[in-house]
Amino acid sequence: MQQNSRWHIMETADQVALAVYEQILKAAEKAISDHGTFKLVLAGGSTPEKVYRLLAEAKADWFKWSIYYGDERCLPVDHKDRNSLMAVESFLKHVAIPEAQIFTIPAELGPDLGAKEYQAVVAAALPFDMVLLGMGEDGHTASLFPGHINQADELAHAIYNSPKPPPERVSISAKALSDTEHLIFLVTGANKQDAVKGWRAGDDLPVATIVPANPIDIYIDQAAYDI
Ligand code: 6PG
Repeated sequence: MQQNSRWHIMETADQVALAVYEQILKAAEKAISDHGTFKLVLAGGSTPEKVYRLLAEAKADWFKWSIYYGDERCLPVDHKDRNSLMAVESFLKHVAIPEAQIFTIPAELGPDLGAKEYQAVVAAALPFDMVLLGMGEDGHTASLFPGHINQADELAHAIYNSPKPPPERVSISAKALSDTEHLIFLVTGANKQDAVKGWRAGDDLPVATIVPANPIDIYIDQAAYDI
């Protein structure tokens, strides 16, 4: 299925973060008024932290929010490299989203058991209202890496031999990440330029396998876009 995308090019990474933050709040308001909840999948890595810090200061109907993670590294729950730790420290511990509505990936159980458990969580959650994703220098997203063969019909994958440490991870699948009303990619930094060029040239990259029914929105700074 062809990816339908809208590119939003901003001067700076701060402007990308502010624009995405505003889109999240807008989508939350609409989802809550439409069906009483806002199911948001958080991106991992470092790029989204600026967005999470803005959300930490926001006024929102937090009791109606549910939080999921696109992927998680198989590390102890309090490990400094856990995506969940970054999200809690920058955002979740500052807002009143009920603990029971924060669905952390149990990646500390290892790839197989973690994916098995999260498969059931994702199945109960779909469709998402908004999915946030980053992109790696090789065009990976979540923990979907170039050259990796995953079972397409799975909702969550056990990931081994990740080229980005740590090697073992759990990732929501392209199929499940695509089952969302809104999908936003956040891409910043000159080190992403080559992957952006490949993506725009139609290369077969994991970022290009995310194909929701609605167009995806790619928020990117000039440094990453510098075609
Ligand atoms: C992870 C992330 C990964 C990340 C990209 C971009 O667990 O590593 O989910 O997919 O989004 O690698 O990372 P940066 O935002 O740090 O560049």
